[in-house]
Amino acid sequence: MKQSKTLKSMIRILFLILLAVCTTACGKKEKRPVLKMATEATFPPYEYYANGKICGIDVDIVRTIADHLGYDLQVIDMKFDAVITAVRTAKADIAASGITVTADRKKMIDFTLPYVQAYQLIIVPVDSKIKSKDDLHGKRIGVQQGTTGDLFVADNYKKSKLNRFDNGALAIAALRNNKIDAVVLDADPAKIHVRTYPKEIKVLNEPLTGEEYAFAIAKHNKKLRIDINRELKRMLDDGTINEIIAKHKNAGSSSAPAEVKSGFFAKIKAAFVLNFVKDKRYMYLVDGFWITIIMAFFAVLLGTILGFIVAVIRSTHDMTGKLKICNALCHLYLTVIRGTPVVVQLLIIYFVIFNNLDVNKVLVGIIAFGINSGAYVAEIIRSGIMSIDKGQMEAGRSLGLSYKKVMLFVILPQAFKNVLPALGNEFIVLLKETSVAGYIALQDLTKGGDIIRSQTYDAFMPLIAVALIYLAVVVLFTKLLGILEKGLKKNE
Ligand code: ARG
Repeated sequence: MKQSKTLKSMIRILFLILLAVCTTACGKKEKRPVLKMATEATFPPYEYYANGKICGIDVDIVRTIADHLGYDLQVIDMKFDAVITAVRTAKADIAASGITVTADRKKMIDFTLPYVQAYQLIIVPVDSKIKSKDDLHGKRIGVQQGTTGDLFVADNYKKSKLNRFDNGALAIAALRNNKIDAVVLDADPAKIHVRTYPKEIKVLNEPLTGEEYAFAIAKHNKKLRIDINRELKRMLDDGTINEIIAKHKNAGSSSAPAEVKSGFFAKIKAAFVLNFVKDKRYMYLVDGFWITIIMAFFAVLLGTILGFIVAVIRSTHDMTGKLKICNALCHLYLTVIRGTPVVVQLLIIYFVIFNNLDVNKVLVGIIAFGINSGAYVAEIIRSGIMSIDKGQMEAGRSLGLSYKKVMLFVILPQAFKNVLPALGNEFIVLLKETSVAGYIALQDLTKGGDIIRSQTYDAFMPLIAVALIYLAVVVLFTKLLGILEKGLKKNE
């Protein structure tokens, strides 16, 4: 009897394994391998959002190449100063982001053949006194962080006030709002930005640099570079690249508000339509909202579990003197996590710990924010445990219950109830802390607002909308917590 049962379950397991192998094998056959392209998509005409999708010259070139080489293309939007790191750490196979070939970058990655000549230009308000590059000294200059424009200004205008922005669109927004006097930007995007706001800003037609764009590929990925160079050469020779460039020459200009209506409400309405309705831009907020909620929820879950374990170890050590090594480890964890900023932890987990691994970014977020939150939760719960009268433990023990049982059934439930408000607060803090997830190119709520901002060049509406959504979640959550607390009180 027993034997036939074991045999049956063994056959069943074997069958399941076979099924799993078959489905993955079959699945693989149909699917083409994916080529991941890192970019920063506020750089029209090379990469920009249109109808919710990233498109542009770089995207089209790389897609054509990928197609020829038998890959499906996946485009990942991140900060410009992360695209090269992404290639180095295997988060992407190729960086295509209007990247200028420079000697320093060559040390880190390999470049393909260049495909475009480029240069930096100065953008100023139409009525600016700045007439040439010599007038830039001592002025407030905006650049996109980590770009050749950034390097050029830092090297040549030591007396100027350098303002580094996450992207060119933000620098332009600052210029239009008189926060800075000039922007130094690559010529093609500069011209497009100016075309969007011809009454407000203009370019000075004086090239500051001479540059070449190429794609970046990890040094060890020689074969891919050779394949891509072969395709690039063909496309340069047969005019495909020129065709692609021509196709995008009107890029980005559709973002401009069609006509500025007069009257306060008409203006607000027009801005609302531009920021949220047009091209279904509200979807950036909706999608981002869910990512934020999912990340915060699971991170708090992970944080609570970690926090509980650490708190129990630490207070057991405090009360009994046992678990010395575990306690020391917990202490180290608390010191490191509470002593470093969460953005840095997130970046370390993504780029250093998961180096050379392509992991789901939401998962990275959950792990990073969970580990971070665990440290704070641990101290909250420990203070809860310590606040319970010592007599309770003694009473429990004298009734013959083990330490574990008293802890689990007497101390922890009371401690939990006492610290509930503090835990709720921790969730609120965490929810808002996840807003730095954009650093690893996760499209959370804040990043959703950023994307809209970069498309509409309007700072007010997207920022206010994002703030209101966070606020609504926090208010709602505080209400729920209040109800829960009341319920717990009633049961006392
Ligand atoms: N060409 C400049 C550089 O390599 C700027 C590129 C910015 N690209 C972008 N997609 N934002 O530094």
